[in-house]
Amino acid sequence: MYKILICDGLDESGLKVFRSAEGIEVDMPEGLGADAIKAILPGYDAMIVRSRTKVTADLIAGAERLKVIGRAGTGVDNIDVGAAGERGILVMNTPGANAMAAAEHTLAMMLALARHVPQATASMRNGLWEKKKFLGTELYHQTLGIVGLGRIGSIVAERALSMKMRVLAYDPVIAPEAAKALGVEYVSLDELLAGSDFITLHTPLTEETRRIINRETLAKTKPGVRILNCARGGLIDEEALCESIAKGHAAGAALDVFEKEPPAGSPLLEMERVIFTPHLGASSRQAQENVSLAIASQILDYLQRGLILNAVNFPSISLKDYDRLKPYLLLAERLGSLQGQLCRPVVALHVTYGGADLLDIPAQPLTQSVAKGLLDPILSEKVNLINAPVLLKHRQIELTASTTSQSRGYTGEITVTARGPGKMEFTATGAVFLGREVRLVRLNDYMLEAELQGVNLIIQNLDKPGTIGHIGTTLGNFNVNIADMHLARSRAEDRAIAIIKLDGEAPQEVLEALRSHPSIVSVQQVKL
Ligand code: NAD
Ligand code: MLT
Repeated sequence: MYKILICDGLDESGLKVFRSAEGIEVDMPEGLGADAIKAILPGYDAMIVRSRTKVTADLIAGAERLKVIGRAGTGVDNIDVGAAGERGILVMNTPGANAMAAAEHTLAMMLALARHVPQATASMRNGLWEKKKFLGTELYHQTLGIVGLGRIGSIVAERALSMKMRVLAYDPVIAPEAAKALGVEYVSLDELLAGSDFITLHTPLTEETRRIINRETLAKTKPGVRILNCARGGLIDEEALCESIAKGHAAGAALDVFEKEPPAGSPLLEMERVIFTPHLGASSRQAQENVSLAIASQILDYLQRGLILNAVNFPSISLKDYDRLKPYLLLAERLGSLQGQLCRPVVALHVTYGGADLLDIPAQPLTQSVAKGLLDPILSEKVNLINAPVLLKHRQIELTASTTSQSRGYTGEITVTARGPGKMEFTATGAVFLGREVRLVRLNDYMLEAELQGVNLIIQNLDKPGTIGHIGTTLGNFNVNIADMHLARSRAEDRAIAIIKLDGEAPQEVLEALRSHPSIVSVQQVKL
């Protein structure tokens, strides 16, 4: 049974998805504060928030059961994604599900700002008829500067172009060709500031974009510029915006989002030339339905099938890729685990992907799976695909990966090389058989075909007669049953290896007895 806590409410469409799923219990208490959420969170596998709940490191500190935090919306700046990642908690959002709503709201704000609609409404409510006072400006042939040409910025651009506006865009993360294809002029931030009659912000709130509109950038704008923000409050230095409007440089602003929400006491609220809405960008019936459906199905997919979509701290895996990846995720994990038990301590790991199956597959989840396999048997804390790379980094274990077109004839094979101190190095290659069975096909220079599963003894010996007899007799004497056995000879040295799968773990005295034979070089027991 998975328990899901919904903190800030959720549209009925997503609740229906949860209700029709088996083994899911949902709680949606109203208006819980941080302390109350913290107290109950340890009982939940998943939590869903919108922007009200601040998911801090402290809030999730005791949430041992928590596997996933779902953001029913786009911005994840209310979630400490780093802290969640360290605890192995997946963070996912629903990008695009409310993009149309936010874009249309931006256009509504731009038109309302240009024609003083809210001010005129308020004036009429006061019994006035002030035709002259509310002389507006047309958008036709005016220049709109879009900062951030992502999902929402692009929709705003298309619609602004259809109103025959000239559109400039600044976005350092997209290719100029993508802007050109939209019919937008790709410019620098300075060019955008200097050339726009309206400037609209559509970036996430990051260290780079925080207060991107400030005293300095406002000084570079055209006199009479109008600023729109339906993205994130922190993108504008509100004091600087107030100053600019007060001294008559900026002609006005339309704000849906604020540094502090609600913005009680903000001087912006007193300014006649500023219009606002209370973070309504995503508040359309359709957007709420979309985000609710999206987050509910994403969370179900993750909890029940391990499928990851729209995670912000893990690469997304499409359903098609996931089916192909599944056996390789297991193979990668088992190889990591094998290496963690053979090579102690591990200083560095390198993973190589070979074979046609793995050439075009997203390899990062596989690499993270190797890390998980390595750490899981060693650490007492919860290790999963999400936090394994962070935990490796904490231990200063280097993890690198590469892809090669060469293979030993398998359609997909993974090689994990583990380096220890000095010259210690182990190389293990695995492949998937029959689409599901994971096998070790090479260990250092021994060629094998041993199933990577269960308890195994890995015995290296001098290639002399009688050694296998000693192994069989010793195990028999201690009543340890052999389930499977693979032998291989080294091509370089006069040595051989035996990988012996046991029905259960062999006690230490058995390992000592095996080691007592002069031809035995090493005996290691690994649990996979
Ligand atoms: P997106 O990720 O699709 O687009 C963001 C764009 O910003 C990307 O193209 C990125 O390259 C660009 N960008 C990043 N750093 C930049 C920088 N320094 N300068 C210029 N561009 C930069 O995101 P989206 O879905 O379009 O959402 C945009 C914003 O709108 C987010 O902040 C989101 O939280 C917010 N949003 C608000 C509401 C609302 O209710 N008001 C609703 C939905 C989304
Ligand atoms: C978002 O980032 O999705 C918006 O701010 C809307 C919301 O908070 O729901």
